[in-house]
Amino acid sequence: MNSDEILELRDRHIGGSLSVSYRRPLHIVRGERQFLFDTEGRAYLDCVNNVCHVGHCHPRVVEAAGKQMALLNTNTRYLHENIVEYAQRLSATLPGPLEVCFFVCSGSEANELALRLARTATDRRDVVVIDSAYHGNTGAMVELSPYKFDGRGGAGKPDHVHVAPAPDPYRGPFRHGDPDAGERYAEGVAAQLTAAAAAGRPAAAFLAESVPGCAGQIVPPEGYLRSAFEHTRAAGALCVADEVQVGFGRVGTHWWGFEVQRATPDIVTLGKPIGNGHPLGAVVTTRAIADAFDNGMEYFNTFGGNPVSCAIGLAVLDVIEDEGLMENARVAGERFQAGLRELAASHPIIGDVRGLGLFIGAELVRDPDTLEPATAEASAIVNAMRERGILLSTDGPFDNVIKIKPPLVFTAEDADRVVSELDSVLAGEAFAVS
Ligand SMILES: Cc1ncc(COP(=O)(O)O)c(C=O)c1O
Repeated sequence: MNSDEILELRDRHIGGSLSVSYRRPLHIVRGERQFLFDTEGRAYLDCVNNVCHVGHCHPRVVEAAGKQMALLNTNTRYLHENIVEYAQRLSATLPGPLEVCFFVCSGSEANELALRLARTATDRRDVVVIDSAYHGNTGAMVELSPYKFDGRGGAGKPDHVHVAPAPDPYRGPFRHGDPDAGERYAEGVAAQLTAAAAAGRPAAAFLAESVPGCAGQIVPPEGYLRSAFEHTRAAGALCVADEVQVGFGRVGTHWWGFEVQRATPDIVTLGKPIGNGHPLGAVVTTRAIADAFDNGMEYFNTFGGNPVSCAIGLAVLDVIEDEGLMENARVAGERFQAGLRELAASHPIIGDVRGLGLFIGAELVRDPDTLEPATAEASAIVNAMRERGILLSTDGPFDNVIKIKPPLVFTAEDADRVVSELDSVLAGEAFAVS
């Protein structure tokens, strides 16, 4: 089929609430490492796929999947080595108290289960979340996602949800240079916990991405998460870290984003990169919380934790370790950020460059003083880069943050190429900012 035929069939048979990337949509037929290939065989450098974490179609992952699929795939009510071996390996990457695993099929399902765990363990219902956060596509997760309920088509904030300010040191009230910014933003979490309790609806949990993505690739100021977790525990609520986007070594220095902030959650949710594209997710928690949930109602998940999924999960862990991908994320990410910072010096439209490892954001503004978002420009840049064979995307409440979160096999040379092409795109008249 050609692109027009596919688009016509999508219009007829696929729900219109699903969008297509880029003004000139891409028809991608193959993937390898950090590259995607279209029908003409043209290679595109993928700077946004945080799912195919160890590289598109990594041969070791493909082989593990194929072998196990040809042998056996069943549910988890039979004894099988894969699920226990995987649970053991996954737990070993996490801080000590996080040792009991539940396997699911997506990030949304992981957060759904985390919510149930927190509600059962605390016998409370409400949740504190961070502004502009996204936690999933199910009914309960849309209700916990300001990105959705405050966005187009959203029904507004439900009563059981309490929204703390995004810990954004570029655009928020406490900015770079304020040594207390982390503490101040954490007080915003404390204020929501206090207000919820005062209203007679104490929170079951504080649910937060360790490094917020949809809020604009934000790196919270030093001390934020640790302090927010202290406030949460003092209020009798549980700390849930959503690592669906940032986990598995993407931050470069640690396996998990919360480790960068020296904070340990009570429940962690995993998705996207965990299966390199295979639908797998997980929730890992403490023995005490898992025991509280074991109240007689069985938790069964038809596909979650099956032998194929666990074989794939194991292969992903092997590749991250054997290929040194966490360290690669640190090295390539540092080069990328340094290159973007250099660009910012000559292109004032780049107001802020931030990130950890290969989780990077470049925020575009029309005016460096008012921080007026350069939303249309961000979209034009992403489309211009696509024509140059580089795939980027935008995010943030104003869609003016260029988001960068490539497969971890991305190299420093790839980063140089993106920076150089971006330099040439930004040199165009349309992006001049005085
Ligand atoms: C932070 C975060 N949590 C949860 C989800 C939901 O994951 P899934 O789409 O696998 O259900 C996403 C997906 O974008 C996400 O970015």
